[in-house]
Amino acid sequence: MKASAAVLLVWASCVSASAMAGPDKPGGAAVIRTVDVTLPNGSLTFPPGVGSNLANAQCVICHSAGMVTRQPPLSFQEWKAEVAKMRAVYGAPLAVDEVDQIARYLTAINGKP
Ligand code: HEC
Repeated sequence: MKASAAVLLVWASCVSASAMAGPDKPGGAAVIRTVDVTLPNGSLTFPPGVGSNLANAQCVICHSAGMVTRQPPLSFQEWKAEVAKMRAVYGAPLAVDEVDQIARYLTAINGKP
């Protein structure tokens, strides 16, 4: 996904510039520029696949998708334990059957046999 954000930079020199304004220093002129920023791919949402909607809805509430996708490959049982931990220990608001669905999805995108 390509996210583009317009960032407004205000060189906040107004205060100090006006304080120092003298006959040869016309202070108070703020310089406003916009820049386009392309954020790095991959860490914002999960790659498409069966269950990615669920992961995008449930697994980026507390941290980035990259926190999950950067993990080494795990087996289905290991992903299941990981998701169950998010639910039981950290309080991810998942229904019980969603644990399996997300674990299946994560095994599909980053699984080991
Ligand atoms: C309620 C908050 C919350 C939600 C929702 C949540 N997590 Fe986490 N997750 C955490 C916390 C807290 C950590 C630990 C962060 C740290 O160690 O800095 C973590 C860390 C992780 C890690 C890194 C390994 C580890 O065990 O620390 C993985 C993988 C992970 N989460 C997967 C998921 C998946 C998959 C989902 C979606 C089902 C999910 N998380 C949803 C809170 C959450």
